[in-house]
Amino acid sequence: MPEETITKGRRRFLGAAGAAALGAAAQPFVNPGTAHAQRSGKLRIALVGTGIRGSGLWGKTLNDKYGDVLEFVGLCDRNPLRVDFVKSYMGVSCPTFTDFDEMIAKTKPDKVIVTTMDCFHAKYICRAMELGCDVITEKPLCTDEKMCQQIIDTEKRTGKHIRVTFNYRYGPAATRIRELLMSGEIGKVTSVDFNYYLNTDHGASYYRRWHGFKQYSGSLLVHKSTHHFDLLNWWLDGEPVEVNAHGDLRHYGWNGDNYGERCMTCQHKSTCPYFWDITKNDFMMNLYVKCEPADGYIRDACLYRREINIWDTMAVQVRYHNDVLLNYSLNSCMPYEGYLVGFNGTKGRLDVREYHSQPWEVEGMADFRITPLFGKTRTFTIPHGGGGHWGGDQKMQDMIFRGPIADPLGQTAGSRAGALSIMIGVSARRSIEQQKPMFVEDLVKI
Ligand SMILES: NC(=O)c1ccc[n+]([C@@H]2O[C@H](COP(=O)([O-])OP(=O)(O)OC[C@H]3O[C@@H](n4cnc5c(N)ncnc54)[C@H](O)[C@@H]3O)[C@@H](O)[C@H]2O)c1
Repeated sequence: MPEETITKGRRRFLGAAGAAALGAAAQPFVNPGTAHAQRSGKLRIALVGTGIRGSGLWGKTLNDKYGDVLEFVGLCDRNPLRVDFVKSYMGVSCPTFTDFDEMIAKTKPDKVIVTTMDCFHAKYICRAMELGCDVITEKPLCTDEKMCQQIIDTEKRTGKHIRVTFNYRYGPAATRIRELLMSGEIGKVTSVDFNYYLNTDHGASYYRRWHGFKQYSGSLLVHKSTHHFDLLNWWLDGEPVEVNAHGDLRHYGWNGDNYGERCMTCQHKSTCPYFWDITKNDFMMNLYVKCEPADGYIRDACLYRREINIWDTMAVQVRYHNDVLLNYSLNSCMPYEGYLVGFNGTKGRLDVREYHSQPWEVEGMADFRITPLFGKTRTFTIPHGGGGHWGGDQKMQDMIFRGPIADPLGQTAGSRAGALSIMIGVSARRSIEQQKPMFVEDLVKI
């Protein structure tokens, strides 16, 4: 790549970086939801996408824990059976819809929560803003560069606001890493090694459903890595400039012999190590299997389906606007789950190993090691944070719905963070497909 191009790209991003800089992030965050509730009663929430995430964290949990400041005014899903089941599961009395525009017109919500399949996020985020609503969306912001541009432009045009729910920012280890890097203990970060491992349970689950198809999930480089790339962007106060990637499908999809349509009817039930019996889980049967007649969504589909077109083995290199170099990998067929991250700084190195699930005993949730260039190493362990995503889910929802609260670490994420994060994954996908490095700014103007 010619040096002028790199320098040019870097300079253009440096200008934009001001808004994301630490100083801006340290401003107190005034919670719009609470302000509304104080003004005119409860915040009116409509939700689209009543699957496992929409019915749980953003459905029942939200209604049960924050019912004093918000009320559900509408639920929407393209599957009428699922949305009706979820209404009763949540214990709410609001109407249900299969038509999004009709829901907004009839219920007039303040905020729309988007928890559909990833590839439909952009459609509902943009439509909600056009119809006058602010948006809370699950990650990833969207799945390709065109959708990303559309979201950025629509937010600007409508003056509405998008919040992206990056719950990993609120986990105890991620928070501690941010604090340590902000403290300057290891100096200015020059490069990072980040390896993420998904196991044969959680990792395999992505190949059983829509996530296994680029057209729906953007690949795991978007669907899953958006969490990791957001953490990196946030930890580093960095904006990605150039991305180079490689990817392969080495285990799932066409690689397996035990092929069948789905676990429930499979002839390899007794021998396949991935056999998963959905019939043993009443909630999953109600949420998915009993709703199949309406949309044919099979939740326990075979992870050896020949058409699966995402990668399970991925390596990505990123150059940031502030000259940090990143080496990242994601492997989704591992015997254990968690990550290793190492930050090389001008004054020393920070190593962190976070454990999510492994067949051996560990004392806490994450081990930290800080080693100055000249001096003794310091180690400590972070204990487990209780609750969903290591306590991150609840902390994030408190931040959104119980304010105003200060945000000294800049954990609140909007469309810019959402876009910068998915654009590493989208660029990595394009890099693999086109077999060349990609410049983020050639794909989208953020
Ligand atoms: N932040 C996290 O840790 C986390 C965890 C899990 C899921 N998620 C995100 O939450 C979202 C939902 O994931 P899930 O696991 O609940 O998936 P799911 O398959 O269980 O649910 C998706 C729902 O969207 C509905 N849907 C699909 N297309 C639609 C359309 N065009 N219009 C209306 N409804 C439509 C489906 O019928 C289904 O009910 C995804 O974007 C996923 O990335 C985030």
